[in-house]
Amino acid sequence: MKPLNKVLINKDTSFNPIWIMRQAGRYLPEFREIRKINTNFINLCLNEKLSTEITLQPLKRFNLDAAIIFSDILILPYGLGQKVEFEKNFGPKLGELNLNEIAKIDKIDFVEKVHRVYKAINKVSLDHNLKNKNTIGFVGAPWTLLVYMINQQSPKKKLKKDFFKDEYLINRILLIIEKFLKIHIKNQIDNGANVIQIFDSWAGLLEESDLPNYIYTPTLNLVNYVKSLNVPVICFPREIKNYKEFCEIVKPDGVNIDYNVDPKKILRDIKIPIQGGLDPKFLLTDKETLKKETLKYLEIFKDHPYIFNLGHGVLPETSPEMVEYLVKTVKEYK
Ligand code: CP3
Repeated sequence: MKPLNKVLINKDTSFNPIWIMRQAGRYLPEFREIRKINTNFINLCLNEKLSTEITLQPLKRFNLDAAIIFSDILILPYGLGQKVEFEKNFGPKLGELNLNEIAKIDKIDFVEKVHRVYKAINKVSLDHNLKNKNTIGFVGAPWTLLVYMINQQSPKKKLKKDFFKDEYLINRILLIIEKFLKIHIKNQIDNGANVIQIFDSWAGLLEESDLPNYIYTPTLNLVNYVKSLNVPVICFPREIKNYKEFCEIVKPDGVNIDYNVDPKKILRDIKIPIQGGLDPKFLLTDKETLKKETLKYLEIFKDHPYIFNLGHGVLPETSPEMVEYLVKTVKEYK
């Protein structure tokens, strides 16, 4: 059995597998070198030779238990025909959202636009570096994708005042997103992804009263879909107001916590396997501090099924040496 499955399915507490969100990315000089000459980020994600190489870069350096495919949650709106660009020092920039155009897209159009992601997953999952390790496929949650597609950029701290004004548009788009997310998940699994993570990076923007409509219901549909394909699913409803209720309703196989979550409280509150939590900023301190903070999570979750990870993606200014030290600290525990 693969390491993440032991924890997520068998609830094994005898060890803590480790992988790191954004493990393939800008803190690695070998990534920056490829990125420098590939200025179009989406095209880089869709270059299966390079995206395979980038996915494997962290696994060649560190003793990680899983690869996460080098792609992006915004591949979905791209596949639906919405323009998606990444601007330096700004982040994602999306084009106008045209419901009539998007409603015309069918499965064949979508798969044709993004199928190279599946080819990369296939190559990664068959690579010798992945022996006895997991290949993680992922998607953005419907709510977070809706936010990007309507807002056309990162919402930073809050939504535009008139975000919810066109209820018809929102409901139509949510259904389209859900339909194509299922297609995207199925293709990733068919090509070798053996865990799926659902990133809901903007779950924290919603009030509790809006959670059922925009988060619980659409995410539960996806979680049940992934489970029906016999693959474990981890949810990351970042900064959601109520992790306990989320887990009770959505019932994923595992939940990633963000760094604002009190690990002792969450241990009392939820029964399912937990992943993550460590503030990525500790990788910017010194080895002693990093070790102390890492051991804190390992100690608190020592009798709970726990996958080590961060409470958000690794920061670009992180030194690879600190990541190596983190992995070593986790591997030497237990
Ligand atoms: O290693 C991995 O984790 C796999 C690849 C991965 C990327 N994005 C590559 C990427 C994953 C899992 C994502 C998820 C993603 N993308 C999320 C959810 C997680 C989170 O961070 O909350 C979100 C919200 C996005 C959308 C997105 N993509 C943003 C907001 C940005 C710009 C911000 C930034 O960090 O620059 C991206 C760009 C992006 N996606 C990069 C990478 C490696 C940086 C691109 C570059 O080199 O300029």
